[in-house]
Amino acid sequence: MNGEFSPKTSRRVAGLKPSGLRKFFDIIAEMPEVVSLGIGEPDFDTPEVIRQAGIRALQNGDTHYTSNAGLSTLRRRLGEHLEHRYGVRYDPEREIVFTVGVSEALYLAMTALLDPGDEVLVPTPCFVSYQPEVVLAGGVAVEVPLRAEDGFQPNVSILERHTTPRTKAILINYPHNPTGAAADRAAMQALARFAAEHDLIVISDEIYDRLVYGGEHVCFPALEGAWERTILLGGFSKDYAMTGWRLGYAAAPAALLQPMLRVHQYTVMTAPTPAQVAAITALGTAAADEAVEAMRRAYDRRRRLIVDGLRSIGFPTVEPHGAFYAFPDIRSTGIDDETFAWRLLEEEKVAVVPGSAFGEAGAGFIRCSYATSEEKIEEALTRIARFVQRVRV
Ligand SMILES: Cc1ncc(COP(=O)(O)O)c(C=O)c1O
Repeated sequence: MNGEFSPKTSRRVAGLKPSGLRKFFDIIAEMPEVVSLGIGEPDFDTPEVIRQAGIRALQNGDTHYTSNAGLSTLRRRLGEHLEHRYGVRYDPEREIVFTVGVSEALYLAMTALLDPGDEVLVPTPCFVSYQPEVVLAGGVAVEVPLRAEDGFQPNVSILERHTTPRTKAILINYPHNPTGAAADRAAMQALARFAAEHDLIVISDEIYDRLVYGGEHVCFPALEGAWERTILLGGFSKDYAMTGWRLGYAAAPAALLQPMLRVHQYTVMTAPTPAQVAAITALGTAAADEAVEAMRRAYDRRRRLIVDGLRSIGFPTVEPHGAFYAFPDIRSTGIDDETFAWRLLEEEKVAVVPGSAFGEAGAGFIRCSYATSEEKIEEALTRIARFVQRVRV
């Protein structure tokens, strides 16, 4: 009979907060006139040379399972790529697994590492999945605020205050969503020492590693004393504009990687085969490199446009050196970030994401994605300026 069965689903799942992004995007999807600085994905299509490789994969019948860790050619290619770019070495046989995006790699890391009650330091604001991933694996996510005055770099003395005997790991992400901060070498080296002192595992989500402006990406496991305790996560969604292909990877010493591979075997089995074949081209060809570089240069132009615009509106904005986000401080408007974002959407049809959607430490800021055209950025800035003028009066 209808209405009589009330299933008892997991309390752990029921306790998860709905993502602050979802409700926003559902509304935006119904409003075609909106200029969106909301979306965290490239506006570019996947580069042609990679798309063609995917099409050929389908035509050639690459439609079967691969080995659980991923195609051996791809694992070797990634091993060479990481060594060439960052000087880090991973054994393609035992230290690399390809996953369904970094999203799955995060799930594997948490599930493989955590016992009930283990604590994970999560510097916030951060990508919206981090705390839920920890909680779903039975752990406790301990939010540690990142501060604008530290350039949104981890601050070891603040981390220290949140560390307990149950702290097992720390989850970092540079270049950073949502602030656009790129890793600062000195801050990262201090973090590596901190992790060693407290015997912590570091999960380093470097999904935006090729989108860095005016400097070099600091690959965390390449730092002194970091390799043996780091799980490096990376992927194809952002750098290669391949969000829909669903491909990422984890690389780590075998003692960390093998338990993750076991979880992967029993849950997902293998990452999508045509995507893996296309990724061989993404990692290993000059044409793909050129396409990535062209996108990076386009983002860089947009970055300067948006940062200048936000600052001239009067919003203090930490210079973003990576990814495709700016994170201006909007507190001078006198309204909170949620109200700001809703009113801006209603009154001026511009979508931005309230900073508090990324954790309490993001309150008072908004995330503006510049993965959109220069014309749209200019239009959005004009509308934001008009809105702010009205609000500030
Ligand atoms: C920091 C960060 N990690 C992971 C992801 C998820 O990436 P994927 O598409 O590889 O699952 C995102 C997507 O926004 C992200 O910003």
